[in-house]
Amino acid sequence: MSIFSSKMPEIDIADIQLPTHIGIIMDGNGRWAKKRGLPRTAGHKVGAETFRKISRYCSDIGIKYLTVYAFSTENWKRPLEEVNTIMTYFRDYLNEALRDFADDTIRLKFLGDISGFSKDIQDLMRENEQMSSVHKGMVCNIAMNYGGRAELVNAVRKIAKMAASGEIKADEIDNTVTEKLISDYLYTSGQPDPDLIIRPSGEYRTSNFLLWQSAYAEYYIDDVLWPDYTKNDLNRALIEYSKRNRRFGGV
Ligand code: IPE
Ligand code: IPE
Ligand code: MG
Repeated sequence: MSIFSSKMPEIDIADIQLPTHIGIIMDGNGRWAKKRGLPRTAGHKVGAETFRKISRYCSDIGIKYLTVYAFSTENWKRPLEEVNTIMTYFRDYLNEALRDFADDTIRLKFLGDISGFSKDIQDLMRENEQMSSVHKGMVCNIAMNYGGRAELVNAVRKIAKMAASGEIKADEIDNTVTEKLISDYLYTSGQPDPDLIIRPSGEYRTSNFLLWQSAYAEYYIDDVLWPDYTKNDLNRALIEYSKRNRRFGGV
């Protein structure tokens, strides 16, 4: 699993400190298609293939948590035809995962408001989560209809309801409503924060991805468009990550 380029000495992925949790903003599908004179949806199709390959690779090299940003709360603004095609690819993946993942080790989880999807997609998401919940390998979070702000609003609403019902008493708010409590009410409850967030396609922004959880994540921006993204691109990000000095506010 070593990679070699003229600029870089040969480094084996097995010898470096890997992140426990990787986040990937799977961006650049539309531009990939445009460059080829194809409809944007062609980029989503190839992007979905890239996701299959990269998630398998992450599991193979021993990554414990992978979170991919597949569809944001803002992506509904896109033309209906594009949204519908993305839903078709999503449905295909969910059916395939249900069929092929039964004997796998990957555990699938969905981050986001699933009530935004059609009933058949919601059922497939739930079935996949249930079926894979006994798996002991990598947790693969797919962020669909996900927004970091919406996630925080959802958590605050739940906590406010507990306060209104007396489950959290007024004089206990300061002790009870802590960073830990808020983390517990996010979609990623119980999971470690991401260590490394990769954004292909060269954009320098979060686009509402894991706002709370990324407080101390290392960012890695790659110019490669997601449909072109390969294991070697990931290896490059992992090697760079292993050299970062994470201080978490310390010295
Ligand atoms: C990411 O690729 C996929 C989704 C947001 C659903 P884009 O569709 O955003 O591709 P670009 O950024 O337009 O190239
Ligand atoms: C972020 O990409 C969302 C996903 C990759 C799913 P966008 O393409 O939606 O983000 P912006 O619009 O460039 O910020
Ligand atoms: Mg984009």
